[in-house]
Amino acid sequence: MKIAVLKERREYEKRVAVTPEVVKKYIKLGQAVAIESGAGLASRISDEEYALAGATIVTDPAALLADADILLKVQRPLLAGEGELDELSLMKSGSTIISVLSPFSCPESVELYAKAGVAAMAMEFVPRITRAQTMDVLSSQSNLAGYRAVLEAAFEYERAMPMMMTAAGTVAPAKVMVLGAGVAGLQAIATAKRLGAIVSATDVRPVAKEQVESLGAKFVMVDSEEMANAETDGGYAKEMSEDFKRKQAELVAATMAKQDIAICTALIPGRKAPTLITDEMVHSMRPGSVIIDLAVEQGGNCTLSKPGEVVDVNGVAIVGHMNMPARLAADTSSLYSRNLYNFIEPHINTESQELSFDWDDEIVAATLLTQNGKVVHPQFAPVNADQKQEA
Ligand code: NAI
Repeated sequence: MKIAVLKERREYEKRVAVTPEVVKKYIKLGQAVAIESGAGLASRISDEEYALAGATIVTDPAALLADADILLKVQRPLLAGEGELDELSLMKSGSTIISVLSPFSCPESVELYAKAGVAAMAMEFVPRITRAQTMDVLSSQSNLAGYRAVLEAAFEYERAMPMMMTAAGTVAPAKVMVLGAGVAGLQAIATAKRLGAIVSATDVRPVAKEQVESLGAKFVMVDSEEMANAETDGGYAKEMSEDFKRKQAELVAATMAKQDIAICTALIPGRKAPTLITDEMVHSMRPGSVIIDLAVEQGGNCTLSKPGEVVDVNGVAIVGHMNMPARLAADTSSLYSRNLYNFIEPHINTESQELSFDWDDEIVAATLLTQNGKVVHPQFAPVNADQKQEA
């Protein structure tokens, strides 16, 4: 099988889907790997390193994809009109794309994969079961994003994070509030603690309390019975009721005025991010405070954050950096590349070296959006006549 890797062409993207370390692993299992020239440069990987690992370097993306069986990407392929190149049109019918495909943000792309005869596998749909932990791209990327969010905050914050007792006097420690204590939030808590800040956090899922406290931070929670049902079977947060949102807004408002830094990480899969910091709350913070809105690409947790911008509101810096994982591209590429390998490797026959996906495997099935010219994922497949009648 020929595995191809394209250079990522979307704005703010610096990652690459395969590193030389993983190229060697694919080759060891009998696969051929071809990489577009320059694909690794933004992740600090040269063409020479890929070539030394055994990959073929190809300059023309059309030539690269013409005979590729599998295309590995970080972000969904460019479609006609989306950029300098229609990447999807270059894929051969019957080939497979494995990537974060963001189908909710571009539902029309799913139909286009089907029309192109491409099997599309969305890595963000890998179920969060124990067996799939090594394939979990959401966790590997969010973890580093949470870490980087705190460093961005420390950079914008014009004071020190830890308490410092010096001959000239004492510097007070920063107070950091983390909103959303999932993978990114927990790493943000751990990083802020390491930098010496006083950290508190909030979440709607009650299990987060123990995790937050085990990191030495204070858990601030809404007193509501609704929290008992705030988690889906998959471990994600649900959209909360208007009553809960009002109570949470009161709690966050009371807490936020005393904070120096807020790290926003709250998300609800497939929906707009919940609004947690309003204009009034921003105005209640003292000048010099910092808000990092990691949810900015999903609509933002702060009403005043702007995608791709650092805005100043009465001296409060609101940071809306896009694609935080790409700000640590060397490490995030490395983890992402290993996630993809761990996803693919079980489907390579060690004796025949044949790569053939077991479509019945629950992990593979959960990611599969399109196959044999059809949209097959239940959330995107067209509803057939019988189902319509039942509904
Ligand atoms: P996410 O990125 O979808 O959301 C981030 C956080 O925001 C979550 O903790 C969520 O509860 C929180 N949130 C949503 N709405 C909120 C609101 N209104 N106010 C405050 N917080 C709000 O979630 P992520 O980080 O991907 O993790 C989701 C879950 O999956 C967690 O329970 C995590 O422990 C679990 N997980 C399990 C894994 C496994 O077993 N293999 C691997 C990784 C995560």
